[in-house]
Amino acid sequence: MKKFWNDLPHGFTILAPMEGVTDVVFRRVVAKAGRPDVFFTEFTNVSSFASEKGRHDALERLDIVRDENGENLETPIVAQIWGKNPDHFAETAKHLEELGFDGLDINMGCPDRHVNKAGGGAAMINTPELAIECIERAKASTNLPVSVKTRLGYTFRDEYLEWISLLLNQHLAALTVHLRTRKEMSKVPAHYDLIPEIVALRDEISPETKLIINGDIKDLAAAKELSEKYPGVDGFMIGRGVFANPYCFTDRHPSQEELKNLFLYHLDLFDQRARELESRGSRYPYEPIKHFIKVYFSGFDGAAELRNKLMECKSSDELRAILK
Ligand SMILES: Cc1cc2nc3c(=O)[nH]c(=O)nc-3n(C[C@H](O)[C@H](O)[C@H](O)COP(=O)(O)O)c2cc1C
Repeated sequence: MKKFWNDLPHGFTILAPMEGVTDVVFRRVVAKAGRPDVFFTEFTNVSSFASEKGRHDALERLDIVRDENGENLETPIVAQIWGKNPDHFAETAKHLEELGFDGLDINMGCPDRHVNKAGGGAAMINTPELAIECIERAKASTNLPVSVKTRLGYTFRDEYLEWISLLLNQHLAALTVHLRTRKEMSKVPAHYDLIPEIVALRDEISPETKLIINGDIKDLAAAKELSEKYPGVDGFMIGRGVFANPYCFTDRHPSQEELKNLFLYHLDLFDQRARELESRGSRYPYEPIKHFIKVYFSGFDGAAELRNKLMECKSSDELRAILK
């Protein structure tokens, strides 16, 4: 079995899976700014992957950055998947290694209403037997290490005792705990006070499982601070921190010039991806790039005016023209 989880430094960092954000383009931007120790993809639905109609879109989500020799440039990379059908977990898991992934992660924490209605994400917390079956079927269908990302519970934070114990009993390669309940969404601070108890559960039930903490960790410095305070935690996952600073996996604070150049790099990758998907009979829509403008142009005199101008643009060339 591939075992990259054991080769990571203590206190390793992970770029969190973020739907509509951490696709093949933005992962490369983050890698350029300063890479985390591990990359996660945005999540892919197993029932889409397992269906003839959905496979094409699912495979686009599972593209990996490669160099001209076909070498994976963002290793180790973990494919995150979600759903509720054990057969579809098995079918998806079977293909992830040949697609170039180093690990497989099951999402059991997403609070999105549509995802939960479909029985996936955080809804799995309420169907523990099905959750176990999905993990078992995934494990049995791949040589990749299988991990889970979840929340403390669905409604009450004390659900963690039973739910996290149940997951640890599956002897996962790694377990990421977003320290909030589904009900709390992202509206309250992450419950760091529970870390010692969760570490103790891991030590008791499954010492070989890497424990990763997630929620409100904004950058490498914050991860290092938490690592000193809670040495039992193996790794730290950062999500929204990349919006405040794409260099968050480094100790560096970029100048405005560097941020502008990073945005220009992002635009080049965007155009490349659009051309590539077009040649595959698909498309890479322009509008979502607007969500990133604030990442690069904030916190200086005139930033709001510049952003307003950039938001009105209708193509990457128009964006470039303004930045010149
Ligand atoms: C735009 C967005 C999309 C997300 N998509 C996913 C996803 O696909 N899978 C997942 O496990 N979590 C997803 N999350 C949750 C993040 O991975 C992370 O758990 C959450 O943002 C808390 O971490 P943070 O405080 O570092 O941002 C998403 C979060 C955001 C903001």
